[in-house]
Amino acid sequence: MDLFEYQARDLFEAYGVPVLAGIIADTPDEVRAAAEKLGGTVVVKAQVKAGGRGKAGGVKVAHNPDDAAKASETIFGLDIKGHIVKRVMVAAGARIKEEYYFSVLLDRANRSYLSLSSFEGGMEIEELAVERPEALARIEVDPLAGIDLAKATEIAIAAKFPAEIVDKVAPVFVKLYEVYKGEDATLVEVNPLVLTEDGDIVALDGKVSLDENADFRHPNHEALVDSGAEDPLEAKAKRLGLNYVKLDGEVGVIGNGAGLVMSTLDVVSYAGEKWGGAKPANFLDIGGGASAEVMANGLDVILGDAQVKSVFVNVFGGITSCDAVANGIVGALKTLGSTASKPLVVRLDGNKVQEGRQILADYNHPLVSLADTMDEGADKAAELASK
Ligand SMILES: Nc1ncnc2c1ncn2[C@@H]1O[C@H](COP(=O)(O)OP(=O)(O)O)[C@@H](O)[C@H]1O
Ligand SMILES: [Mg+2]
Repeated sequence: MDLFEYQARDLFEAYGVPVLAGIIADTPDEVRAAAEKLGGTVVVKAQVKAGGRGKAGGVKVAHNPDDAAKASETIFGLDIKGHIVKRVMVAAGARIKEEYYFSVLLDRANRSYLSLSSFEGGMEIEELAVERPEALARIEVDPLAGIDLAKATEIAIAAKFPAEIVDKVAPVFVKLYEVYKGEDATLVEVNPLVLTEDGDIVALDGKVSLDENADFRHPNHEALVDSGAEDPLEAKAKRLGLNYVKLDGEVGVIGNGAGLVMSTLDVVSYAGEKWGGAKPANFLDIGGGASAEVMANGLDVILGDAQVKSVFVNVFGGITSCDAVANGIVGALKTLGSTASKPLVVRLDGNKVQEGRQILADYNHPLVSLADTMDEGADKAAELASK
């Protein structure tokens, strides 16, 4: 999960990274009030999860509260790389002497952490990496050792910071790494990290991505979710503990095991070519123990998708045998009652397949049809979706 700049700023502050005062505002009046409270020169900054806000006109300096309110009028509603600005942060203005760059991130290719840093900040890092790669220090960080003061010093020297600045930025690098580690982030980036005219180091911008797999360790991260931007079906599935991803086709898909579900998506897409381009509506892996409750929850989410016209349940019975899955489907249909309003194609195979098919045949629900193979099921479901 990517954070907004103001959320990154708050985390930085909590870890002792030097930041400037900032107040969020959702209207020009709130901007005026915030600027009054901060006093002096302020910077009105668009809060969208995209970089390059400055270049896009989303960062404006204002010398008094009225100018701040006026500047914000041009920022609210601005489209920055497809993100519409609904909120700004009014930040205290810094008197910038120099701009630097620092980040630490998860380096998946090398199964390690990586720190990128440069004495030459201010530029988009992607540009710097292409145009002046020698100015960007890439230092591997051992996840077990992290960034202590010695490592931070090594990083700053590699990034060509002069000696007197090394002593100032190194402790800030250490604190930024504490944010990275303490919050289970996959990215902490500061661009620019600045030296002010007063000789202080301040993080003026912050980009933080959190590892959602570690959410269980951070109950406070729940509050950072931008609920307005979340797909409502995905949010519901998340609440129900389902592995669900919304796609934009018409054939709802339920399967057990991520690999089987991925191949089901392929097979449905392929079959759909024959039926007016019907496509899978979602990824949903109900995992090993496909109980009636999990099946009901899964069906409930999928049937809540207005785009869905048919559902393909593709289950391979293993430890959870097909009869248990079939009972799960029957239980789910009973639970859902009239909510189960779209045709369901079920393909069962594997452990106790005959028993499973018999249970569904006996239940004889008008919307349920059985398929012998995955291809046949995908074809049938795509055909039903095309009607
Ligand atoms: N609080 C601030 N005080 C003074 N200048 C700022 C402040 N915040 C940002 N800036 C200036 O605006 C530029 C762009 O802002 P930044 O927060 O980095 O947004 P982005 O990276 O999305 O363009 C910075 O490089 C810096 O020069
Ligand atoms: Mg920036």
